[in-house]
Amino acid sequence: MPTPSLLILPGDGIGPEVMAEVRRIIDWYGAKRGLVFDVTEDLVGGCAYDAHGTPLTDATMAKAQEVDAVLLGAVGGPKYDDLDFSVKPERGLLRLRKEMDLYANLRPAQCFDALADFSSLKREVVAGLDILILRELTSGIYFGEPRGIIREGNERVGINTQRYTESEIARIARSAFELARKRSNKVCSMEKANVMESGILWRQVVTEIHQAEYPDVELSHMYADAGAMQLSRWPKQFDVIVTDNLFGDLLSDLAAMLTGSLGMLPSASLGAPMANGRPKALYEPVHGSAPDIAGQEKANPIACILSFAMALRYSFDKGDEAERLEKAVEAVLAKGYRTPDLMAAEGGTQVTTKGMGDAILAALD
Ligand code: NAI
Ligand code: MG
Repeated sequence: MPTPSLLILPGDGIGPEVMAEVRRIIDWYGAKRGLVFDVTEDLVGGCAYDAHGTPLTDATMAKAQEVDAVLLGAVGGPKYDDLDFSVKPERGLLRLRKEMDLYANLRPAQCFDALADFSSLKREVVAGLDILILRELTSGIYFGEPRGIIREGNERVGINTQRYTESEIARIARSAFELARKRSNKVCSMEKANVMESGILWRQVVTEIHQAEYPDVELSHMYADAGAMQLSRWPKQFDVIVTDNLFGDLLSDLAAMLTGSLGMLPSASLGAPMANGRPKALYEPVHGSAPDIAGQEKANPIACILSFAMALRYSFDKGDEAERLEKAVEAVLAKGYRTPDLMAAEGGTQVTTKGMGDAILAALD
């Protein structure tokens, strides 16, 4: 097997600060677990604009297409707010997502026991929660035509179109079943087949793919509104939830907040399988560049560290090593180590970004 390759794009603000801790963890895996990665580091966002006049160079884009996985910190900041739209830091990220055709957005909602009191829900409802919302990201009502605001008689009409082709549904369904096989083997598909034709087709295609290719995975269907209720009532009933772009936008934010702080939330965006069978993949924390705390050693590196754990599981087939890392994070939180963003609810020992990295490395050892 060739050495697995990683492109690391720390980006702006707290991006480089949290990524520095991930780098130490990657080095730990090389030294202690014999898991060596071929790592390239490059610029994206505002720092790339500063160096090259563009938020993502063609060379970086080409590298992203070629590696097994991309790990990104965050982009943007007040320094770049007045730049022309075409060179804004976010454009670098958007270009990556678009050219890699990352149609499957993975947002886990994972609640570590020690942080269960951060949730607005009762401890027993969220403690130990570990579910994955899979959102279709490149089609649906945010992209469908016709769209616009038109004039009809003496009033204005706003129009958007929900449109899904069979192949778009089939590929996100396959992603869901593949991911479920690496987890608890359970998929719940959510749409509104009761009131939307696109939902009827969604349910048909998901069912067909299931019967033909993944009969070993347990599949259920739910209307998305009922799904929202069930997510807030008893989220542990789910494993993988697969849904469209619009419902996924809402449901993933809802699920994320079941578990507390922005500094804890990882994500992944996956595309089509490459020649080696691995999906194109971009892993990144959900949070942004947090200019308000950048340069102060206050950033919580866990979202970025858990994004790397997702890479281990979904790009490198190292679910056991991902679990090792997640267990280390859990142990450190249980011992009371807290970056400032996690200090609100209860006591604990306040640590810096690097202090949190130190603690996680110690727990890995
Ligand atoms: P943000 O996520 O950067 O920050 C929101 C709040 O959460 C801030 O108070 C911040 O201090 C806190 N926070 C975020 N991550 C944290 C962490 N790891 N540890 C501790 N506290 C954390 O969102 P905001 O403020 O709306 O945007 C700031 C900049 O980031 C903007 O330029 C925005 O465009 C960009 N951004 C970039 C994203 C990306 O790269 N994917 C996503 C969201 C925003
Ligand atoms: Mg959203």
